[in-house]
Amino acid sequence: MVLATVVCLATACSGGVEGTPGAAGLRDPYFPKAGNGGYDVTHYDLTLDVDPAAHRIRGTAVITARATQDLSAFNLDLAGLTVESARVEGRPAAFNRAARELTLRPDAEVESRLRRGRTFRTVVRYSGSPLTLTDPDGSKEGWLRTADGSVALGEPVGSMTWFPGNNHPSDKATYDLTVTVPQGLTAVSNGELTSRRASGRTSGPTTTYHWHTAEPMATYLATLAIGRFDTKASTTPDGMEVFTAVDPKEAAASARTLARIPEIVQWEAARFGPYPFSSTGAIVGRPRDSGYALEAQDRPYFPGPPTAGLLVHEMSHQWFGDSVTPASWRDMWLNEGFATYAEWLWKADKEGVPVGDSFDEAFADDDNWAFPPADPPTAADISQAPVYGRGAMVIHKIRQAVDDDRRFFALVAGWTKAHRHGNASTADFTAYVEKATGQDLTDLWKAWLYGEGRPAAETR
Ligand code: TRP
Ligand code: ZN
Repeated sequence: MVLATVVCLATACSGGVEGTPGAAGLRDPYFPKAGNGGYDVTHYDLTLDVDPAAHRIRGTAVITARATQDLSAFNLDLAGLTVESARVEGRPAAFNRAARELTLRPDAEVESRLRRGRTFRTVVRYSGSPLTLTDPDGSKEGWLRTADGSVALGEPVGSMTWFPGNNHPSDKATYDLTVTVPQGLTAVSNGELTSRRASGRTSGPTTTYHWHTAEPMATYLATLAIGRFDTKASTTPDGMEVFTAVDPKEAAASARTLARIPEIVQWEAARFGPYPFSSTGAIVGRPRDSGYALEAQDRPYFPGPPTAGLLVHEMSHQWFGDSVTPASWRDMWLNEGFATYAEWLWKADKEGVPVGDSFDEAFADDDNWAFPPADPPTAADISQAPVYGRGAMVIHKIRQAVDDDRRFFALVAGWTKAHRHGNASTADFTAYVEKATGQDLTDLWKAWLYGEGRPAAETR
């Protein structure tokens, strides 16, 4: 009796209770190995010690997750770095590294607890020199070095260069990030700064920052900027916190535009629905730090002073992308189409350029017709012109189909409400729009969303 129990725990049980390994990827159409199967992360508690001069980090990731199957083993995504130890449910777990996969195999006692539906805790200790990744389109992401520190940008897959996780937009979680940096440098992240204290490590005085993100966040939106920053905390007229961190060299040129954050958030909330998060702001680095801005949650990142239009674009992503997050990277046009349309709306409202003119300009641009926005041909195309410009044209065609501005904006606000803090696919969107309008829009989707090439002039 006793023997039988031991045999059952130490090897695969034949009674049908043994778990199986979680998948090593979520089969995203563009990044098939991104993310992992078998569990759903609910919280990341990350502690990082960063030495910018030595370009080294040391981290502890405490990951709380719920099993979605009976698990015998599971993966986390991690690129580069050295894993020093791994524990699952408080007990040492065997681990293996292969490419960008970290496989954890808990002991038999813990495995018997990793039943579907159970919440479990994993602790990974790691260190090393974090990587900069080059995407299929040639852009740099992950951990980028800057003149006086670093910035972590994670779209689409770069977050795995600084913490292990379930690195796919479909698995959103809350975060605590505790970062220790040399005194004089600031560590800025998503969410709210809940503490800042002097700390000391053997190499000298340090400061420890604790950032808390209370709303679910996709890994690609997690950011961490370390360097010399002018920081400013203020509040919007509604009492929401605005936290900006600006490279001192860019401060003068950024001030006027950043002062418009409350106005922009309010202007967007009037069109897209209530602002989805508990704070806002921006991080402004230097023009050479990255080749692009990124809609980091709560606090978009800009390489140098943003224009008002770019600020409008990145802020609109708080609704489209950050709160309503693509189910897969194929649904990227739902981010960029809406964000581009937000720019068109702003131009119409503030600069008197009719949205129809922006539409015509996009329609005339051959780059926007390279492929259908809902089906980029390769991973190198997910940030290309059609995803932005033709994506925005789709939104405008819906507005024309609705033919009533009040109803159109109610439809948009209804969309952000329906999937607030969640995920949505293109199929979810087209079904939602057809239901909300009561119209069969098959021809619109065919021509504008899925069709190759420009629709004939008369269908405009
Ligand atoms: N999503 C960003 C935006 O629209 C842009 C962006 C992020 C990007 N990473 C990229 C563009 C890589 C091209 C390549 O603001
Ligand atoms: Zn964008």
